[in-house]
Amino acid sequence: MIELQGRKALITGAAQGLGKAIAELFVERGAQVMLADIDAEGAARTADALGPQARSVRCNVTNSAEVAAAVEATVAAFDGLDTLVNNAGIEIVKPLFDNSEEEYERLMAINVKGVFLGMKHALGPLAASGRGSVVNISSLAGTNGVPLFGTYAASKSAVIQLSRTAAAELRPAGIRVNAVCPGFVGTAMVERLIPTVEAIVGVPFSALVAVKQLRLGTPREVAEMTAFLASDAASWTTGSHYILDGGLSAGLL
Ligand SMILES: NC(=O)c1ccc[n+]([C@@H]2O[C@H](COP(=O)([O-])OP(=O)(O)OC[C@H]3O[C@@H](n4cnc5c(N)ncnc54)[C@H](O)[C@@H]3O)[C@@H](O)[C@H]2O)c1
Repeated sequence: MIELQGRKALITGAAQGLGKAIAELFVERGAQVMLADIDAEGAARTADALGPQARSVRCNVTNSAEVAAAVEATVAAFDGLDTLVNNAGIEIVKPLFDNSEEEYERLMAINVKGVFLGMKHALGPLAASGRGSVVNISSLAGTNGVPLFGTYAASKSAVIQLSRTAAAELRPAGIRVNAVCPGFVGTAMVERLIPTVEAIVGVPFSALVAVKQLRLGTPREVAEMTAFLASDAASWTTGSHYILDGGLSAGLL
């Protein structure tokens, strides 16, 4: 079992979905966690349910000052920060050139700039900890072109490359940086995209999932991978991305 005793973590987008599952597992394994989310009430509710190891802070990951404040709040609450999970993200599901410029910029700001700002502001405390670890939540979509998910796929690809460069540059500071690339996982994000995908593709989403990856992944499965990468058990991993997709990307059919 992956051990996170004594870890001091900041997790973005942690009010619900994957971020919430990551926070839950981190607490179970002994970490202290700061749940940061633009949905302040949701983050506070989730943190309250997790008990004294969890705190929450409002944070829009596109806002540099708010990200810096979330890092400061974590350091103040736990006397340091050694683990950053950049998880906050949004989806847009439509043909690539149906995206407006505003939609493109909003998605890139949250999914890419948010990850950049998280690492930039956490750098100091991560280095000071002597065992800094960053896990950036990318997507299987970041490893390929994906019809209907064009801007999303591009943003998640950027997350993989930011992670690799950060890993190489931060290695001397003892900071590891990895990315996690899940296929479809059962969260509100997937619930939201089902009607659009079904309307455009003309196939029931459940059938698509059954053929491609047998079933939806669970948030817990993504949390387990994240916990491993955050932990000292993953001490020789850095600059890599880890796919969890039930085999979706393994074969052509
Ligand atoms: N669910 C999937 O199938 C899946 C697959 C691959 C990758 N991912 C990625 O996992 C991450 C979490 O997805 P999820 O399925 O839990 O989605 P979700 O929509 O259920 O949760 C996303 C969370 O991020 C928060 N958020 C949105 N914009 C924010 C902002 N500007 N600042 C701070 N917080 C913000 C939301 O309030 C919400 O709590 C995302 O980066 C997503 O792209 C999800």
